[in-house]
Amino acid sequence: MSHERKNELNHERKKLAVLISGRGSNMVALAAAVADGRVPGAEIALVLSDRADAPGRSLASERGIETLAVERLGRAREEHEREIVAALTEREIDLVCLAGFMRLLSPAFVGALSGRILNIHPSLLPAFPGLDAQRQAIEHGVKFSGCTVHFVDETLDGGAIIAQRVVALKDDDTPATLAARILTQEHEAYAEAVALVLSGDYELAGRRVVRRGAALRSDV
Ligand code: GRF
Repeated sequence: MSHERKNELNHERKKLAVLISGRGSNMVALAAAVADGRVPGAEIALVLSDRADAPGRSLASERGIETLAVERLGRAREEHEREIVAALTEREIDLVCLAGFMRLLSPAFVGALSGRILNIHPSLLPAFPGLDAQRQAIEHGVKFSGCTVHFVDETLDGGAIIAQRVVALKDDDTPATLAARILTQEHEAYAEAVALVLSGDYELAGRRVVRRGAALRSDV
């Protein structure tokens, strides 16, 4: 009886898939947030990597999470993405979290999971999209950078912004030291953003993700 009940509860959970290419620290942070109740009603049902040797895979397995490698080397993008979408559909994934997934998704992929893909980026978007965001920030001379969790659309790091965290630059920062400070903020911001999206407690007002009940500044 208790077993049946547990399954029932599990069935109601929202299923997350985390897509990684490498280290997987954001995936680990999301798993911790799910485990300690900061992302209510969620489970990580799949960690999918596009490289069989992604170090994050074993971190997921150690946590009892199903992992799947859909190797992209030598594959046409269309075919590779089709296989990923099939794996997500088969597992009835509700929300896809890109976490260091080093590939720009095609409009077909984004369309197949419309409004259900999130990404985390290590800058305050729209500043410094693309690769090496921390180096871009240092070289540009900004005094503050940070991280952004956003919905994924067909543009590079361009979808509606869900959460941001600010990090001050230091004069002696290197891309590595800045990246490390931003990363600790990423880990908190991603869990917060996923919790908000799963709660459904927001509205999209143009590009703006507004918590329900919060007054829109333009109305004031
Ligand atoms: C993070 O800095 C994330 O913002 C960027 O890629 C990095 C992934 O790190 N998209 P990890 O694999 O989550 O440790």
